[in-house]
Amino acid sequence: MMVSSSSLVALLIPVLIISFMQTSAANFYQDFDVTWGDGRAKILNNGELLTLSLDKISGSGFQSKNEYLFGKIDMQLKLVPGNSAGTVTAYYLSSQGPTHDEIDFEFLGNLSGDPYILHTNVFSQGKGNREQQFYLWFDPTADFHTYSILWNPQRIIFSVDDTPIREFKNSESVGVSYPKNQAMRIYSSLWNADDWATRGGLVKTDWSHVPFTASYRNFNAQACVWSSGSSSCNSNSWLNEEMDVTSQERLKWVHKNYMIYNYCADSKRFPQGYPPECALNTTS
Ligand SMILES: *[C@@H]1O[C@H](CO)[C@@H](O)[C@H](O)[C@H]1NC(C)=O
Repeated sequence: MMVSSSSLVALLIPVLIISFMQTSAANFYQDFDVTWGDGRAKILNNGELLTLSLDKISGSGFQSKNEYLFGKIDMQLKLVPGNSAGTVTAYYLSSQGPTHDEIDFEFLGNLSGDPYILHTNVFSQGKGNREQQFYLWFDPTADFHTYSILWNPQRIIFSVDDTPIREFKNSESVGVSYPKNQAMRIYSSLWNADDWATRGGLVKTDWSHVPFTASYRNFNAQACVWSSGSSSCNSNSWLNEEMDVTSQERLKWVHKNYMIYNYCADSKRFPQGYPPECALNTTS
């Protein structure tokens, strides 16, 4: 088939734009700043890979250059392998100040062969105490897996490899504040928390195998970037996204088989009754 050069150009433009978007979406130099760790955080492979490390002296961390007000944000992480007991890898969104909002993934390391705990929390107006914890259905140290946060005005959905593990619905109708007015940055850090992380602090960090290293790649944000008081969105199909029936079934499967703690089911902790949002975030 003959293709004129002008139609060839027309065909190629979208391809070029898409490949540009993909490379630019995954460049750590462009989207993140290393914030601490004195050389322990490294951006490698022309910006495609970022590694954090931890030794006896220090951990390390990075943060996004942009602040976001709503978005669908994916990152692939490969966690500290081997004996990672006592280490915590945190990956979260947070605004600033005493009444800050925050959406947290935290990965609590373990002895070789024992499962990581994926700890999640949601803060609104400085109030957290909304923990849910999970085991994963795979070894998160063997390979990269995608950890995603969908944050829109109606809901926050935490997902792992596109399987939703947690939904936090906007519960303003029952008097619970919801993160929607404060722009957040993406943060991640790797640090030593052997005073509480593994089996409640019983297992201490083994410093004979340092450094501990976690890796990041394929960051992708469909999001609204907040800058000088206004927001610009590169896409907004996710702004009204909710879980379809298949996703709800997946979420139930995770809750039934992998959830190990849910504040909304901890009757000892809430003898006077569960927080009001619990009634709206039923899990089965
Ligand atoms: C570590 O492994 C033990 C034993 O399987 C388990 O009870 C615990 O939840 C695991 N995770 C952490 C972070 O302690």
